[in-house]
Amino acid sequence: MGILAYDDDEALGRVRAVDTTMVVVNVDDTERLRKLQVNRLAVLQSSRPGQHLIGIIQKITRTAIDAKNGTTEGSDDEILEQNSVRISLIGTLVDKVGDKVNVFLRTLETVPEIDAYCFSLEGKRLTDFMRVVANIAGDGQKLSLGHYTLDENAEAYLNGNKFFQRHAVIVGSTGSGKSWTTARVLEQVAALSNASALVFDIHGEYSPMRGPGIKHFRIAGPGDLDAGATLDNGVIFIPYWLLGYEAMTSMFVDRSDQNAPNQAMVMSRAVVNAKRKYLTDGGHSEVLANFTVDSPIPFSLDEVITELNGLNVEMVAGAKTGTEKQGEFHGKLSRLIQRLENKRTDRRLGFLFQGNVETMEYEWLERLVLALVAGTKDQTDGTGGVKVIDFSEVPADILPLIVSLIAKLVFAVQQWTVSERRHPVALFCDEAHLYIPESRSSGAAGDISVEIFERIAKEGRKYGAGLVVISQRPSEVNRTVLSQCNNLIAMRLTNGDDQAVVRRLLPDSLGGFGDLLPVLDTGEALVVGDASLLPTRIRVMEPTQRPNSGTVDFWERWGEDKHVRGHLEAVEGWRRQSVQGLPV
Ligand SMILES: Nc1ncnc2c1ncn2[C@@H]1O[C@H](COP(=O)(O)OP(=O)(O)OP(=O)(O)O)[C@@H](O)[C@H]1O
Ligand SMILES: [Mg+2]
Repeated sequence: MGILAYDDDEALGRVRAVDTTMVVVNVDDTERLRKLQVNRLAVLQSSRPGQHLIGIIQKITRTAIDAKNGTTEGSDDEILEQNSVRISLIGTLVDKVGDKVNVFLRTLETVPEIDAYCFSLEGKRLTDFMRVVANIAGDGQKLSLGHYTLDENAEAYLNGNKFFQRHAVIVGSTGSGKSWTTARVLEQVAALSNASALVFDIHGEYSPMRGPGIKHFRIAGPGDLDAGATLDNGVIFIPYWLLGYEAMTSMFVDRSDQNAPNQAMVMSRAVVNAKRKYLTDGGHSEVLANFTVDSPIPFSLDEVITELNGLNVEMVAGAKTGTEKQGEFHGKLSRLIQRLENKRTDRRLGFLFQGNVETMEYEWLERLVLALVAGTKDQTDGTGGVKVIDFSEVPADILPLIVSLIAKLVFAVQQWTVSERRHPVALFCDEAHLYIPESRSSGAAGDISVEIFERIAKEGRKYGAGLVVISQRPSEVNRTVLSQCNNLIAMRLTNGDDQAVVRRLLPDSLGGFGDLLPVLDTGEALVVGDASLLPTRIRVMEPTQRPNSGTVDFWERWGEDKHVRGHLEAVEGWRRQSVQGLPV
């Protein structure tokens, strides 16, 4: 027996008008009308037996009609009412498909006929229906978010495969619960036996999340440079030799300089020479034949600078014997050399240029990739499927550069793995508007970052790289990246621009859902997309390990009789550009 069997006398009313996915139903019983609510579900009789059309109530109207103009006879002052409900169809529940019973499909093979009965979906039937939807949604590993607001007894599952395959966005105003929702997802990822996910943690919010499946890293800050910090104690150096040609030119060549094209060309030649020397000296002849300026091969920056210096002062033989004239690049490289020297000694960029000797080893990249990209089972200590990378000490202007370098590393590894041995990896991008910006005003580093994330958004599915874009300002996040995300978790959003962006991500038939965005409770989300068969409002369950959301209780703290003095440490930390190891 199907779960949606109704008696005719339970009907709300009958269908009056049908327009592809919109249905208008006349409701005669005012009592029943009063109990209806927008965004609740309704069931419509289908012309095919064993099928039930499911719709969302979009609009409830009660209109008075003057009886004199109507057809019904009555006394002069009698007012008749025409009560109607507008329903948008979203799917079909089929009682039996093959040997499966109660199957929910997000397609409409039929539309209701005029005069078909319409029923309200509530109570036990709603519970049963939500369970059906949940079970079907979990045909892969089930990802549990919480409970449906419509029915607190029905657990809301997402399809874990689809959630990561076609990317996801989590948006909401500050304090709406994005980080907690992310933590709820992350702890389930961490519990899987061979998970692989990276979290770009911009404010160090996820540091309280501990456990066997979670490992913490941070980008080497100025304080780590002389302390002998290494990957084994969770400090990441990304050596300069991992910069591609684009990143290198954007960093060292001033585009407005009239010699810029020359500088870029000469630098790339010098880098290729230095890489060749490294490969030759190390006896890596198998790589020697095919490497390019972009290949991840260590090289000596000293050699590059020496070569550039040489060209910058070079004199060549003149037309007449015995005379000399300035070489082709004479004096044209001074600014390039100066920029190189400056960057190289900049302690904020120490993670790039001042890594310890091991970062110059040929095998070092393998170690970095194993630590950051590989799944739980490949980790040396068999833990750490989820790698939280703390960027809280990274200066804002170089954040896009670093984040995108890591994203590029992950994507390159996925691309170069033979397909049958590829292990899927997900990138959780918290505060994505900071490094995947919509406007290209953030400078060259921002451009490079956007380019890399656009690529992952467009091609990631094929290479098993999934994005989870998390932001409080969806209107400031790159549109191309957003448009590639097929799963939406939208939490409370108050800003109009941001709402507009999210509305555009909602399917047309669900336009009405967008109106809920500003009125959602903290921790409540609208979930739509590949991973959940039914667009739903979900109350996200609290994660067991809560991120540090950083809410400060002003009034309470001001009222406390406690003396804390962080200011002097702050001054010292500011100078050192690091809060690691400060005297307290
Ligand atoms: N699912 C939830 N259930 C109950 N309370 C929640 C839930 N999610 C969040 N909260 C509350 O809201 C606060 C803020 O949540 P969270 O840190 O996730 O916000 P956020 O959206 O990440 O904000 P920001 O954009 O500023 O990082 C939490 O400290 C917690 O008190
Ligand atoms: Mg947050």
